[in-house]
Amino acid sequence: MSEFRLTQISDTHLARRLTALTANFAHVSEYIDATRPDLVVNSGDLAFDAPTQPDDLEFARVLHDALPVACRYLPGNHDIGDNPTQVGAAPSQPVTENKRQAFIAAFCDDRWRFEAAGWCFIGLNSLVMNSGLVSEAEQFDWLASELASAAGKPVALFLHKPIYLNAPDDPELAATSIRYVPMPARRRLVEMLRSVDLRLVASGHVHQRRDYTFGGVRNIWAPSAGFIISDARQERIGVKEVGLVEYRFQPDSFEVRHVRAPGQVDVDLDSLLAKAPAQETERAKLMI
Ligand SMILES: [Fe+2]
Ligand SMILES: [Fe+2]
Repeated sequence: MSEFRLTQISDTHLARRLTALTANFAHVSEYIDATRPDLVVNSGDLAFDAPTQPDDLEFARVLHDALPVACRYLPGNHDIGDNPTQVGAAPSQPVTENKRQAFIAAFCDDRWRFEAAGWCFIGLNSLVMNSGLVSEAEQFDWLASELASAAGKPVALFLHKPIYLNAPDDPELAATSIRYVPMPARRRLVEMLRSVDLRLVASGHVHQRRDYTFGGVRNIWAPSAGFIISDARQERIGVKEVGLVEYRFQPDSFEVRHVRAPGQVDVDLDSLLAKAPAQETERAKLMI
């Protein structure tokens, strides 16, 4: 295969009760059906909030199972709980092995690696980082062995949380530590990635579209497919709009297209919170 077409969707945040998000997903599904990429990757937060509403994960699974192309998934903090950080408050729903296993039962795995069009693609579970769970150490061991077998191929990395804001050494701040891969796991991850020809880091989580290059690595923040977060709740870093990202990989090169599926609407988080249970509302205020 000389070209590999990959569509990244993210932060679909599906829930039976939130029909505006189901409608946005339906528009994304129609677009995927029309364009038929080789693979769809959902980079996490498939569920609106599975730690408090486990049915959200099941609902997301059913809708993704109906997509007409191959899919791979990565967990988000609203699927399996969040990372502890060194500087921020403890998460109200920390990542646990049970929640990770529930995700794997629904979506096959929480990390993966494959090759296509001369590239090595790696997907990581960013939520176990800095958790101290056994699976955190297992994943780093697994990653070391997968990177060692990249054999000079360009590497594209997918994960839910961006590794950092602008640069690996950006300070970890209490107000924003849950937005990025936390220290010290971030430092370890960045060090490990230095051993390969990393070209792309594709993430979600922030619900803002962004595209920038640092140190020869293109960093793509996929927007949410479902909803945006107002400036009153979240600082503006990139572009606040719903959408998706299309990639075309060819040996030694790739292209990125920032796309909005016809019919997708910029649903605002505030309009969803009015319909959510109180516990969920508190969680959602900490959305990113
Ligand atoms: Fe999200
Ligand atoms: Fe997230």
